[in-house]
Amino acid sequence: MPGFELIGQEERDALNALMDEGGVFFAHGFDAKRKHFHVRELEADFCAYLGCDDALCVSSGTAAIKVALKAIGVGHGDEVITQGFNFIADFEAIIDCGATPVVAGSDDTLNMDPAQLEALITDKTKAILPVHMLGVPARLNEIMAIAKRHNIPVVEDACEAVGAKYNGQFAGTLGQAGVFSFDYGKAITTGEGGLVILNDADIAVKARQYHDHGHINLPGIGRGLDRAGMVGFNYRMSELNAVVGKVQLKKLAFITEQSGKRYAALDQQITAPAFKKRAIPTEATPAYDTYIVEVGDAQIREHAIQLLGDMGFGTKNLPDAMNWHCSVYWDHMGFDTRTPAQLATLALLERQIAIPVTLGKSVADFAALGQALNGLSV
Ligand SMILES: Cc1ncc(COP(=O)(O)O)c(C=O)c1O
Repeated sequence: MPGFELIGQEERDALNALMDEGGVFFAHGFDAKRKHFHVRELEADFCAYLGCDDALCVSSGTAAIKVALKAIGVGHGDEVITQGFNFIADFEAIIDCGATPVVAGSDDTLNMDPAQLEALITDKTKAILPVHMLGVPARLNEIMAIAKRHNIPVVEDACEAVGAKYNGQFAGTLGQAGVFSFDYGKAITTGEGGLVILNDADIAVKARQYHDHGHINLPGIGRGLDRAGMVGFNYRMSELNAVVGKVQLKKLAFITEQSGKRYAALDQQITAPAFKKRAIPTEATPAYDTYIVEVGDAQIREHAIQLLGDMGFGTKNLPDAMNWHCSVYWDHMGFDTRTPAQLATLALLERQIAIPVTLGKSVADFAALGQALNGLSV
């Protein structure tokens, strides 16, 4: 979330520099008119920051999921297993590929419950798509072990967990592919934008082709005479987004660190038994951009939501955008939305409050919020 809070002179200078150096907004060609290939440079910057070998910038997080699934070969008749606490984009991408979403329920991390995963695998399962919701990684060791046993690729949706870690590695870099979003509400923003992290050479080739009308980009041949390797689409990122992304990426370590301080201040104050904290896998370090707490008592919960509004924090997704984050609400999509796992996820989510960790409030503000929330139950 805080990326947009830090947009300033650096982003403005980067955009002006792009204009001054030739104003090429397209990621390919126009070599004589340009000094940089900013989209390609942003990919290299991400690989250096994340410690991964390959990444592809695309036009959104939604596009990133679709590109990853298409590159894996997800198509008509296939199934993709994902989770009920999610964002609608994951289901849209699966359905847009012609496949069917199969929905696992949530564990105490609120993410995909590995204990429910294996029973959902069929001979149609083409990919597993765990989602690191609101900054906390799913239990990836368990999920990846099951996936490996069945030889099914894992696409990590880390759109809401940019900067989080698992087993000491950045979330999004552990599966065969991982995806980030840089929309305006994410940890860092390019306005709209996304990244596909690529850990498999075949998936990488297909992802590059699919996001760019199938272009093979044969070396030494202009794009006009190039050939298509597959039926593709246009999910390219523009240079405008990339120059902003290069600046925002430089702020990510600061954002994660500062968010962590605020998150810790809030967490320390919340001790009353009325508040049940979200489980964080021992292997995980969150991105810290959202603090989720379960409040089972309806009255305390109502007061807590009121207090968050009064103190100028508000809530984030739970409960204010529940319809976009729980699969039970997506019966326009043509899959069974009312399985016991999804209904259980709904019941779990209805008890949660998600608090945005914003850099516009100080560490002391978050401590004061924690105290005030805690005070509601005594
Ligand atoms: C978990 C998750 N996946 C995917 C997306 C889609 O990203 P975008 O908005 O960049 O298309 C989002 C965006 O909110 C998200 O939260």
